[in-house]
Amino acid sequence: MKTLKISSSKKDILSIADLSTKEINLILMLAGKLKLEQKSGKSRPLLHGKTLGMVFQKPSTRTRVSFEVGMYQLGGGAVHLSANDIQLSRGETIGDTAKTLSLYLDCIMARVYNHEDVQTLARYAWVPVINGLSDSFHPCQILADLMTIQEHKKKLKGLQLAWLGDGDNVCNDLMLGCAKTGISMTAACPMGYEPLEEIVELAKAEGKMTDADIAITHDPASAVRDADIIATDTFISIGKESDRATREAAFLPNYQVNTDIMKLAKRDAIFMHCLPAKRGMEVTTDVIDGKQSVVWQEAENRLHTQKALLCFLMKAVAL
Ligand code: CP
Ligand code: NVA
Repeated sequence: MKTLKISSSKKDILSIADLSTKEINLILMLAGKLKLEQKSGKSRPLLHGKTLGMVFQKPSTRTRVSFEVGMYQLGGGAVHLSANDIQLSRGETIGDTAKTLSLYLDCIMARVYNHEDVQTLARYAWVPVINGLSDSFHPCQILADLMTIQEHKKKLKGLQLAWLGDGDNVCNDLMLGCAKTGISMTAACPMGYEPLEEIVELAKAEGKMTDADIAITHDPASAVRDADIIATDTFISIGKESDRATREAAFLPNYQVNTDIMKLAKRDAIFMHCLPAKRGMEVTTDVIDGKQSVVWQEAENRLHTQKALLCFLMKAVAL
């Protein structure tokens, strides 16, 4: 029988706040190594015999496939668990589900509506829990984003990132990720759609240690001027569909990333989007499909950074 681990040393990644600057840099370094190994056909079975459970309350393309393929590439396995298909849907508690899953699995990744659900899962699970997107945070996306920025700009510290649009789950964690790695970030969001206040405060405090300026504005042009990176996300995150008309009115046309906005940034600025994108809404087709866009590299890097994160959490490598 699998040893019950009521481990005080297990680590959960529910937000980028759960990783130190040093840990982020180590994960990015390992991700780079794993990427090279995979591309040269020399993958190592670092997670041989390990199994990841993937609980999904809401849809996913990138997160589901990159975690599942990542586990296979590392010699382990993955089990897809739609929340509708397990006893959670009939009222079994998250706590009992977490303990049960911990008996069979070595790590759990969960995509949930309410952030409290992944917090509860982590509190009761005896194995590490990774947030695969909640209404508040998306740490896995930010690791891939940082790797992509580093590949293009050959550094993180000292860069300037402009976020345009919704101060959503991706924006919250990106702000923390930037602050921890020395990237200054200005988020331009309509009134009422700013990132979480406590996250902005936390990011500002982290930024003081890395010389990163963290700011919020309602003026997209001022955020974008001379930026190295322009990033955005959908205006209508999963679960916000009933709010569509109000949101479109709040975000359009001022918070759309288009060629006019891109021209205000540095000439070699890159455009980033976690995907899925709505062309013609938060970004125009010419920008997302244009030369400055790095969205496919960003999507690919989900695989490499998550493989590194899984190795780190399951202690498959000495970092
Ligand atoms: N970026 C991202 O998390 O994509 P999915 O919703 O397809 O997983
Ligand atoms: N903010 C988006 C991100 C999708 C990856 C959402 O929550 O739907």
